Amino acid sequence: MSQMRILLIVGGGIAAYKSLELIRLLRKSGADVRVILTSAGAQFVTPLSLAALSENPVHTDLFSLTDEAEMGHIQLSRAADLVVVAPATADLMAKAAQGLANDLASTVLLATDKSVLMAPAMNVRMWDHAATQRNLATLQGDGVIFVGPNDGDMACGEFGPGRMAEPAEIHAAILEKLSGAPKPLAGRRAIVTAGPTAEPLDPVRYLTNRSSGKQGFAIAAALAQLGADVTLVAGPVALATPTGVKRVDVETAREMLAACQSALPADIAVCVAAVADWRPADVASQKTKKTPGGGPPPLTLVENPDILATLSKGETRPTLVVGFAAETENVEAYAQAKLAKKGCDWIIANDVSIAGTMGGDDNAISIVTTSGIERWSRLAKSEVADKLAARMAEGLT
Ligand code: CTP
Repeated sequence: MSQMRILLIVGGGIAAYKSLELIRLLRKSGADVRVILTSAGAQFVTPLSLAALSENPVHTDLFSLTDEAEMGHIQLSRAADLVVVAPATADLMAKAAQGLANDLASTVLLATDKSVLMAPAMNVRMWDHAATQRNLATLQGDGVIFVGPNDGDMACGEFGPGRMAEPAEIHAAILEKLSGAPKPLAGRRAIVTAGPTAEPLDPVRYLTNRSSGKQGFAIAAALAQLGADVTLVAGPVALATPTGVKRVDVETAREMLAACQSALPADIAVCVAAVADWRPADVASQKTKKTPGGGPPPLTLVENPDILATLSKGETRPTLVVGFAAETENVEAYAQAKLAKKGCDWIIANDVSIAGTMGGDDNAISIVTTSGIERWSRLAKSEVADKLAARMAEGLT
């Protein structure tokens, strides 16, 4: 590959110090790095450090006569293979989503004809705010690639999503984007469900299960790596959103079904979520209290919609619908029965009686289709995901 040219926009956040390490990693892999430092960013790192590490002058001002004489802002936005925003603050995301152009960073983001990758960093409440989530969805719709944010302790003392991805993760995402690896699923849409559902009993209690969401998240990541436009519908899990994936967080089975249906039409649907088959018939509006001598309250359950069966039998059926069957005995026989009952194309059967499968990092699966059973030896969940995604790409062609 010819020399990578990266235009790095450093926004104003405590995570700006990590952009120094990112520049070092990029330079080490031979990239030419140009840096734009916002005025807020300059409160956290100095132009001198950025210039020293990037070995290029740092751009800060939209109306700089010297800069414009050497390289105008339009040229700056085009003379790169990829524009990287790290840290991408709530403010920079909002400006980019709205198409504002009132400083050099936002002007370049509007003027560029290149792909944009953002590594958000902000307080967890700012990240969760409806406005930021709206901007995220807009930017993802515009094709912006997101890396992170990760969960963790934050400089402000809170915990949750908002920490900027580590420089190594951002560096890997940049290399992946620019590597030119084959994208057999480019232009294809995929829906992946993952994690457990949580079915409320009252405002403080719910029914759920032990699914970690790891296998579903890995499949969403693998499909995105092959170029698919992936919507990941996730139950409550503590996992970072894979690079390039659109994530919709839900709690109940009914919310999960609605999110899947709004992501249709799709070429592929992979139902990995451990959806609660049943939910409490009544959800108390207030916390259910013990009454002296009253005994436990009755628990009546009603059936949840079957997302896999609904997608398989729906009018806008994805071309390839894949379900999972976690079993503790008669794994393949049960999987075959499920294939027929749900109307999907493949069932990925896994034996969860093997210690460490639920919540662990490995999985031993069989692919059950109407034409037979293929058994795979035990692999890391990420490898299972890569191989399955490649199989799905073949299955579509
Ligand atoms: N599934 C779904 N919606 C549900 C239940 C399950 O989409 N309400 C999907 C899961 O994502 C998985 C497959 O169906 O792909 C699992 O099938 P299911 O029959 O629900 O599995 P179990 O709960 O293990 O069923 P059983 O009680 O028959 O073992």
